This record gives sequence, C-alpha cells and structure tokens, in this order.
Amino acid sequence: MQASRVPANMDVFTRSPGMTKPESSVEKLVVLPKMDDQDPADHAWADASFAADILAEHAFFFALLMPVEVAAKERAEALRFRETFSALHDQIGTQGPPPRSELKGFVANITEQIKPFIEYKARLGEAQSTGQLRSLVWPLFFDHTRHEAERWERRLNDLANGESAFDRTEVVKFWTNIMDEHARFVAHLLDPDEVALIETAFSTGAVFRDLGDDSVGGTLSALANEPGTVVGSLVQNPDVDAVMSAVNTILDFKTQTVRDIEAGKIKSIIDPRLADHVRREALKFLNELKRAV
Ligand SMILES: [Fe+2]
Ligand SMILES: [Fe+2]
Repeated sequence: MQASRVPANMDVFTRSPGMTKPESSVEKLVVLPKMDDQDPADHAWADASFAADILAEHAFFFALLMPVEVAAKERAEALRFRETFSALHDQIGTQGPPPRSELKGFVANITEQIKPFIEYKARLGEAQSTGQLRSLVWPLFFDHTRHEAERWERRLNDLANGESAFDRTEVVKFWTNIMDEHARFVAHLLDPDEVALIETAFSTGAVFRDLGDDSVGGTLSALANEPGTVVGSLVQNPDVDAVMSAVNTILDFKTQTVRDIEAGKIKSIIDPRLADHVRREALKFLNELKRAV
C-alpha cells in the first residue's frame, strides 16, 4: 500500500510507530480503519486490500518453493494466482472504500477470486502429503495458507452482511493457531546452527497453542509449560491480558527478526518478504484483538 492511496479515515501502521513510510524495500505498510470506525464498507475495503496482498504473496512463496524441475505446472499456476491477486490489490487501492449500496458486489468480486485459490491450496496440499507432488512446500504450509484464505472469505461475507464486529473467541482461536504455525515454520527455516533462536521459536509456538482457548487454564498451562517465554512476555507487557501480551511480544519478535534477516544477522532460508508477511499477520491479530468484544 502506497501512503498516497490511504483514505483519510484510516490508520497507517509501520514497523516503527509514527513513521510515514517503509524503513526498507521489504516493509509493506498496513492500513486499517480507525479504532472507533465500525463501518462495514471501510472494514471490507481495508481487509480486502490486506487479504489480496497476502494472497498474492502466498502464491509468490509457493512459486519460490516450486523448482521447475519438480513442479513446473504447479509453479506456473501459482504465478498466475500471484498476478490475479496483485491486480486485485491494485484495483482495490485505486477504487477506495465502496459505497454501502455496492458493498455486496464489492465483496462478491473478491470472494469469487479467492475460491479457486482455496481449491488450489487444498488440491496441492493433498498431493504434497501423499507424495504425488514433491515440491518444497510443506503440507502444513498449504493448509495454513488455505485456512487464512477461508477465513478471509468468511470475514468478507460477514462484512457484506453488515457485520464488522470481531468475536474474541473466534479471533483468539484462529490467530493463536496461525501464530503457533508461524513459529514452527520459522524454527524449520532457520539455519540448524541457530540453536537458541530455534528453541525460542518452538517455545513461542507452544505458548500460542496453550493460549488458544483463551481461558485461565490455558494461561496457566502456558506458564507451566514455557515459564520463561510467558513470564518474559508478561513482564514486557504487564498491563494487558495474557493473549494480548503474547501477541505484543511476538509482533516485536517478528519485527526484530525481519530486520535481522534483511541485515544478514540471522542465518536462515527465510525470504525477507516472508518474514514481513508474518509480521503483518501478527499486527492484524493485535488490531483485531483490540477491537474484539
Ligand atoms: Fe499468510
Ligand atoms: Fe500466516
């Protein structure tokens, strides 16, 4: 998202709070409705823009992990999806939030394009897990990105029906699972010599697994299983609940990680664009959690 395209009633989120432009060529800005804005059309526009870019990136990450020697056809398909969602993202940015009377049509245009990509992720995830496909995309990466696409489709349909409010139980259940999986992806993409970081990534994943049911019991078991990680995050963010505290901590961790990857300070096979992608998803989780009732 270019700063020039930001509608006046939206907030812009940068890696460092208060900046007006990206700090590097990899950073993408996140544009979301102001905290008190519940207009479904504003949310539909912002979430559609966020999702279209995220989906274009999923397609690009698949292509990076599909050498032509083993998956030429699947790679070409991925690159076509990338073009589709990049074009959609541009179109959403140019047209701005839809009038309320056009909200349903606006959403339908996007969800119709998401459906074939969900089907692709399901089909290739099955092929990869049964050994018919031998790409470098893990089955869990196909599932993870499919769950995100399915959730964007649900969210946009809710917005088309005029419902912009987030349900805390759904937000926590969905995003804690996503954060857990990100942490495990990172653990497996780090250089095997990055022993301490790999351990941090695995314990972070375990904390989010325990926090997923958003209960006192979940917090206690997170504390019992990964005391260092949970106490560390509560010490850094003492005034908020355990889930919010953990999300703040993982957002800080991902922001630092993407900077260190860009600077070559971490040894890994993590593309900086993937690191920024998971950072923006953590940011979206935090923003939804603040709005959730
Ligand atoms: Fe994603
Ligand atoms: Fe993700």
